[in-house]
Amino acid sequence: MMIETNTTPVYWANKKAYDKGIYRVIANQGSTRSSKTFSLSQLMIDIASGGINQVTGQHYGRKEISVVSPSLPHLKKGARKDVLSNLETQMLFMEDNFNRTDQIYTFPATGSYIEFFGADDSQKVRGPGRDILYINEANLLNRETYIQLALRTREMIFMDFNPADEYSWVYEVADKTGNKLIISTYKNNLANLSKEQIAEIEALKDADENLWKVFGLGQRGTSSETIYTHFKVIDEMPERGEQVMGQDFGYNVPSALIDIEFYEGGLYWDEVLYEPKLTTTDLIERYKALKVKMGRPIYCDAAEPKTIEELVRAGYNAMPADKDVTEGIRKVKSMPLYITKRSINLLKEARSYKWKVDKDGRVLDEPVKFNDHAMDAGRYGTFTHLTGFQFVPVGGTL
Ligand SMILES: Nc1ncnc2c1ncn2[C@@H]1O[C@H](COP(=O)(O)OP(=O)(O)OP(=O)(O)O)[C@@H](O)[C@H]1O
Ligand SMILES: [Mg+2]
Repeated sequence: MMIETNTTPVYWANKKAYDKGIYRVIANQGSTRSSKTFSLSQLMIDIASGGINQVTGQHYGRKEISVVSPSLPHLKKGARKDVLSNLETQMLFMEDNFNRTDQIYTFPATGSYIEFFGADDSQKVRGPGRDILYINEANLLNRETYIQLALRTREMIFMDFNPADEYSWVYEVADKTGNKLIISTYKNNLANLSKEQIAEIEALKDADENLWKVFGLGQRGTSSETIYTHFKVIDEMPERGEQVMGQDFGYNVPSALIDIEFYEGGLYWDEVLYEPKLTTTDLIERYKALKVKMGRPIYCDAAEPKTIEELVRAGYNAMPADKDVTEGIRKVKSMPLYITKRSINLLKEARSYKWKVDKDGRVLDEPVKFNDHAMDAGRYGTFTHLTGFQFVPVGGTL
């Protein structure tokens, strides 16, 4: 049963809809940081641990629940983390109940369980069914995967997504009669956001109307100003062409490291690292764990010479990138671009990376500065490498 915890209106809207027992799908469309993932994670625990249905007054019975994200690494940093940390807060977490090999957390008192898997795991997608399915970032799954998962779901489906696309199968599902659409915004979650986080979202108001609409107001976007529309999703990198890397530094925002390959006229991008709150020491640790090759050129955000120098001292071939945004984007757009399917954050950024639009509706030659960390890293490596930018090595001369 659920111990008193901090819940938002998004949690209660979902619980109320679920308790009615009449919806096949409860679709959570929302701005960024509206507490969708956190609230749905809490609700999965409430259901699995035998909480009380507020309509019937009865405890929930035994349920098999699957929590699915586009990939397992994405899930581990998102919905799974929220489920596990909420179990801890509620003092429900017991290591013995968590089968880490199969990614299944069992609730012995009810016999219910919550399993976690990535939508790229086709065996699991086509595996045994469940009572309840929760799809995190549902718009990043394709329709076919959704259909396979839905076919094997006996009771009902929760999903959450940012409505960044103009057209998507998720809207058809969300708008279907018999399904419930819940729209939330960061304003439903102000108590859990810092001033900086709120300011970052509200800055979109002036920066870009469409992104404000999607990530601030939780309303469906338009795609007319999308910068990269030409990319294709692939399974693996070719590993046969010329390989470099691009690195964007962040602290409060993610540091992004992208593997870049040039092969038969095509440009290939693969997300290697995307993580906030990394010090330079942490970053070097990550490089080691990721087995980043010592000799491989890493084109980095030139605004941080000190960090570049520290990477160099740690043995990496790091160097400042040419930061010309417009020319860089032009270069990337001029080549066939392939992005690996495991690059969840990179793909998410690519789909909402937009040109700025001025007050008169004119499209400017400048991207909106929002969710662009992997976009910058990819561009740094691609453009700088291809243009043979003459850099001066940090701490030395050419
Ligand atoms: N009930 C809560 N108690 C404490 N913190 C919360 C609560 N709900 C949300 N948060 C925090 O608020 C932030 C935003 O929540 P969350 O990530 O769930 O939003 P979201 O709607 O899924 O956003 P996005 O669309 O960007 O994925 C997170 O840092 C989360 O930990
Ligand atoms: Mg979320």
